[in-house]
Amino acid sequence: MKFFADTADIEEIRELALLGLLDGVTTNPSLIKKSGRDFKQTIAEICAITKGPVSAEVVATDVEGMLREAAELTPIAPNVTIKVPLTLAGLKACRYLSEQGTMVNVTLCFSPAQALLAAKAGAAFISPFVGRLDDISQDGLTLIADILRIYRNYPQFNKTQILVASIRHPLHITESAKMGADVITAPPSIIKQLVKHPLTDKGIEQFLSDWAATGQKI
Ligand code: G3P
Repeated sequence: MKFFADTADIEEIRELALLGLLDGVTTNPSLIKKSGRDFKQTIAEICAITKGPVSAEVVATDVEGMLREAAELTPIAPNVTIKVPLTLAGLKACRYLSEQGTMVNVTLCFSPAQALLAAKAGAAFISPFVGRLDDISQDGLTLIADILRIYRNYPQFNKTQILVASIRHPLHITESAKMGADVITAPPSIIKQLVKHPLTDKGIEQFLSDWAATGQKI
């Protein structure tokens, strides 16, 4: 399973890269707003940290506008992935860009039917939002299971990777891994939470105290 950082914060991205836990990055307009930084400059800096796919989202809602924005973003670096919304215009842009050899991440997916359309449009990634479904009392992880089931039925959909997004806690990651999702994108704080277990902390404390009692040094 690949780990993408769902952030536009350069320092957080750099730290995950140093930990060896960074396979790519996803950004969106809200994350760019949160960073307070210039969009294209930020994407360029992220692409200098990772060779993995870096999603940059278009904000136009019509096909021509999406393609115009994609033409501005793709020259930034070879690993720029164009993120488009799951609309008919987004799917059309996805088809065109994918045929030109540009990786496309189709975002804001909330149903298996939408995921089916994205795969048919040649998307490199489909981004189902598990947390936002949980937020409205629908089981986000069921969506991941449904998409996996559909994609596995059709070999031609193999090239569309399932990128589990809108992750709220470590269980979203481990459950997605158990099902075989290709990628998760999560805030770095949640990725780092994966290391935590109270018995690990307790065990370290016990070992250190026993070691101190031996009076030895390594
Ligand atoms: O990048 C898209 C997605 O991960 C957003 O997550 O937390 O805003 O629902 P969230």
